[in-house]
Amino acid sequence: MKPALRKVVFPVAGLGTRFLPATKVVPKELLPIVDRPLIQWAVDEAVAAGADTLVFVINRNKRAIADHFDVAYELEDTLVRREKHDLLRVAREVLPAGVETVYVVQQQALGLGHAVLCARPVVGNEDFGVILPDDFIFDRQTPALAQMAKVHAEHGGAVVAVEPVDPEWTSRYGIVGGQNLSADLVKVSEIVEKPAPADAPSNLGVVGRYVLPGRIFELLASTQPGAGGEIQLTDAIAALIAEQPVHGYRFSGRRFDCGNKLGFVEATVAMAMEDPATAQALRASLPAIIDGS
Ligand code: UTP
Repeated sequence: MKPALRKVVFPVAGLGTRFLPATKVVPKELLPIVDRPLIQWAVDEAVAAGADTLVFVINRNKRAIADHFDVAYELEDTLVRREKHDLLRVAREVLPAGVETVYVVQQQALGLGHAVLCARPVVGNEDFGVILPDDFIFDRQTPALAQMAKVHAEHGGAVVAVEPVDPEWTSRYGIVGGQNLSADLVKVSEIVEKPAPADAPSNLGVVGRYVLPGRIFELLASTQPGAGGEIQLTDAIAALIAEQPVHGYRFSGRRFDCGNKLGFVEATVAMAMEDPATAQALRASLPAIIDGS
């Protein structure tokens, strides 16, 4: 049987300030990479990992995310009458049959750890996945969370996605330290949120994919505000290390930090190059665009 994660949590209640003014009205997660919003790429990744319950942690400004996954009756009816069957399929495929959405509200942006804790009433005591949609990861073979579900099925405990980061920028990430078990797996003995380069246990930064046990909720509930005054998921994972195995997994695929402008533009170009409808023409036009000629 394929390892599956039934429940996946999408903490999307942040303010998205780095993308103002675009995110003044439109949630960051609805900004499109080519023709699919970031949240759609994330949901497709969760479904590929076996999810049938998608838990969105939202706030009052993110309600359009629920609209995106809702049935658009007028649109669908019009497409049916116009016999636009391909477009109808695209509109309906945002949520595969048998997959449910649940929305919980984080009333105050108290941090990523707090946002994950808000999903507790839905997730209960199960193992679950977490995807931060603005960390966009593309792999042609196996999406990142499905890779991690496999690691989790083998090792249990928690699995966090890691990648080498520029040692100068350790203060932007959670950083893990531990023992290398193989080229892509680290048994984590230490995890620190946003350390200065001199204090970082390694250059392996945690990025936006996690597989966590239900126990993390109890640990989060007793986690005090940490770096930046926020309740940090990293601090609860640090407490988990004493109880259960925590592994850092170097996923295959490429990550684009779509929470900042450069990563977002790079992801857009990369996905346009993956699309046969745009790849050839883009290859021809990009050099002149880049040279400004
Ligand atoms: P970020 O650090 O990227 O913050 O949050 P942000 O608010 O989305 O964006 P900027 O920095 O203001 O531009 C990482 C993830 O944690 C979620 C965010 O939605 C994002 O997916 N988050 C963060 C919450 O859901 N709640 C919070 O209180 C904080």
